[in-house]
Amino acid sequence: MSPEAAVSVPGKAILLGEHAAVYGYPALVTAVDLRLTVTARVTGDGRITVDGSSEFRTGAMSAAEAMGFSGGAEAPGDRLAYLACGTALAHADAPSGTGLALRIASDIPPGAGLGSSAALSVGVVAAVFTALGLRVAAGTIAEVAKRVEARQHGRPSGVDVEAVLRGGTLWCRRTAEGTLACAPLSTAQAGLTRLELYHTGAPAESTGDMVASVGLLREREPRRVNAALASIEAATLAARDALAAGLDADRALLPLMARAEAALEALEVVPADVARAIRAIEAQGGAAKVSGAGGRAAGGGLVLVLPAPGGAATVPSQWKRLHARLGAPGLLEDVAA
Ligand code: PMV
Repeated sequence: MSPEAAVSVPGKAILLGEHAAVYGYPALVTAVDLRLTVTARVTGDGRITVDGSSEFRTGAMSAAEAMGFSGGAEAPGDRLAYLACGTALAHADAPSGTGLALRIASDIPPGAGLGSSAALSVGVVAAVFTALGLRVAAGTIAEVAKRVEARQHGRPSGVDVEAVLRGGTLWCRRTAEGTLACAPLSTAQAGLTRLELYHTGAPAESTGDMVASVGLLREREPRRVNAALASIEAATLAARDALAAGLDADRALLPLMARAEAALEALEVVPADVARAIRAIEAQGGAAKVSGAGGRAAGGGLVLVLPAPGGAATVPSQWKRLHARLGAPGLLEDVAA
């Protein structure tokens, strides 16, 4: 039997810069130690089977159909694992008749702004390459996974994929050539020890919906949206400097998170009840912001909370605290016999 490739990938949280990153502004992003694992074994039956919990739509699909997804055919949104597998097989120019048996398990809640789809894309692509016996550079995994993400979201900045692939805490910005450059912030973790993560409810809207609605708002009200994007950029730049310096970064982050949150509210990506709860946290001397795409009607996905110095934050009882280390290792690969 061919060897089984096994990989694990963390989730991610965008510290600052979401939505602005779509327009080429910088972002700070950190890997969250909730992990997705993928095992892959090559079979000779020309089929892709996905075994795991129902969110991955377990079942079987022909490899030819999955590879068709990667060639431009419309991919059903709930078939991301197959799309990622097909895209990797097509990139590898796998011989016809190649099949793959995947097993996927995840601690990363979907719809929580924690990068579950980026982790799935990176995990499946990396596991498929390894199962095929290919040693590929991290840059190739990123490129193929971003292609998968683009089929899902239309206009991804790529920061999710870089964060889960590389791990740690990253400073990401678009280069003059239009590519995304990410560099690790080595002292950042010290400044993130008091940050709390909450799942405030899965938004009804997808990331693609939220990115599209900001785009529409920008067409209608360019002045308001551009001012909000510039405000997010300024907060992100200042936060990078505070985290890189490492000194009293928590205190420095408080006003920067509040500034970014105000801008996200101007972009209309924060549900009213989440905004109200954040005002209450601010009144306690803390700060909080939506992390990731956010939502409109109900459920803001992930919210980051920084309690007041020396204090604790009181949050709505329905918000679910997620206990996970920030700055986690990125993609880990392991080939079992
Ligand atoms: O999918 P999420 O919730 O992690 O949000 C992605 C962040 C955005 O900036 C809204 C989109 C992007 O591709 O950067």
